Amino acid sequence: MKVALITGITGQDGSYLAELLLEKGYMVHGIKRRASLFNTDRIDHLYQDPHDPDQRLKLHYGDLTDSMNLTRIIQECQPDEIYNLGAMSHVKVSFDSPEYVGNVDGLGTLRILEAIRILGLENKTRIYQASTSELYGGLPENKNEKGFYDENSPFYPRSPYGVAKIYGFWITKNYREAYNMFACNGILFNHESPRRGETFVTRKITRAVAKIALGLQEKVYLGNLEAKRDWGHAKDYVRMMWMILQADVAEDWVIATGVTTTVRDFVRMAFLEVGIELEFKGTGVDEKAFVTACNNKDFQLKIGKEVLSVDPTYFRPTEVDLLIGDPSKAKEKLGWVPEYDLKDLVKDMMESDVKLMKKDVDLLKAGHEILKQAE
Ligand code: NAP
Ligand code: GDD
Repeated sequence: MKVALITGITGQDGSYLAELLLEKGYMVHGIKRRASLFNTDRIDHLYQDPHDPDQRLKLHYGDLTDSMNLTRIIQECQPDEIYNLGAMSHVKVSFDSPEYVGNVDGLGTLRILEAIRILGLENKTRIYQASTSELYGGLPENKNEKGFYDENSPFYPRSPYGVAKIYGFWITKNYREAYNMFACNGILFNHESPRRGETFVTRKITRAVAKIALGLQEKVYLGNLEAKRDWGHAKDYVRMMWMILQADVAEDWVIATGVTTTVRDFVRMAFLEVGIELEFKGTGVDEKAFVTACNNKDFQLKIGKEVLSVDPTYFRPTEVDLLIGDPSKAKEKLGWVPEYDLKDLVKDMMESDVKLMKKDVDLLKAGHEILKQAE
């Protein structure tokens, strides 16, 4: 049985990857951080009974800042594959804790690679490093002749997160070249899902739109509406992580959709999923969105209602204006075919968040019923 170790297993990608590897028959080890509250929501469905001898998922307490802990876990698991997904992954937050993000996202990668070397597992263990399109920094002049970022485009990171991840990228490449390790970077563009963290823009939008449509929230405040991202579905992207480690040769790979969309258009698409049409008025910090039509009888708002404002709190000291990736190499050499386009992604996220928020409405209704009966 193949053995995999996932750092960041409690995150969006970690949870989908764990699902995929279990389906493929792997023994899956995951590193979770000790927290004062339960933090395994995204993987609880995979982990019913830790006492079951057939359980193929095992969690270990650990942290990417702790070399001894990482080395011990790797020694215990003897993994065939390590997926280093653990990271402080929020770009805006990285401006507030730049030293920490350097330690976790940059040096954390080194700690994993060095543990493999110390344990003499260079010829056994393949490593996937979660690199990112943030490395490109969105500089227009660095796109290729077709207008995309690809494996040969120069890097110019624009945040402490991007700078830490560039260390992770190069140290992975260096260990591959220096010690002949099967260590690969997946340069992944933004990928989202119903399990996306609530403070990333897509999930912030889909949660807010569901709440606004159900009358649980008045409006949403966002930052830069002009920013453009190449958004794919996390399920498609974790499949590619696995494919990267099954390749004949260790290389670096761009994973993207090749389509870029503004934050503003993502908002439009999310509202349209519940039949609500919007008009945007004003520019910069004065831009607002208003309801112009409601085509779904379940979600009726007042025409002209203001549902979105800009709040500069969410602006970043340096912004990545536009990302768009060219996944040709992954498609041609590894046969990667994504199943979701942006419309499917928005639909999946909206369906999930409407369902989630409806539970709150049902709870409120039940509460009112109880109060009425008590009167
Ligand atoms: P995520 O949902 O934020 O998950 C990050 C994971 O890392 C969580 O399990 C988190 O644990 C864990 N973690 C944080 N700090 C840690 C530490 N000090 N030690 C050990 N684990 C730690 O991120 P994601 O979207 O799944 O992304 C997975 C990886 O891909 C990250 O490295 C991210 O930077 C990278 N990436 C993501 C995207 C994207 O669009 N999603 C694109 C390119 C690259 P807790 O649950 O305890 O917080
Ligand atoms: N989070 C957030 N919140 N972003 C906002 C908001 C807001 O209220 N309003 C506008 N934005 C803009 C940001 O300024 C950015 O340009 C864009 O929306 C996307 O922001 P995020 O969803 O936070 O993602 P990101 O692109 O900064 O980073 C994500 O993708 C990277 C890959 O390119 C993260 O998942 C990173 O970990 C990942 O490496």
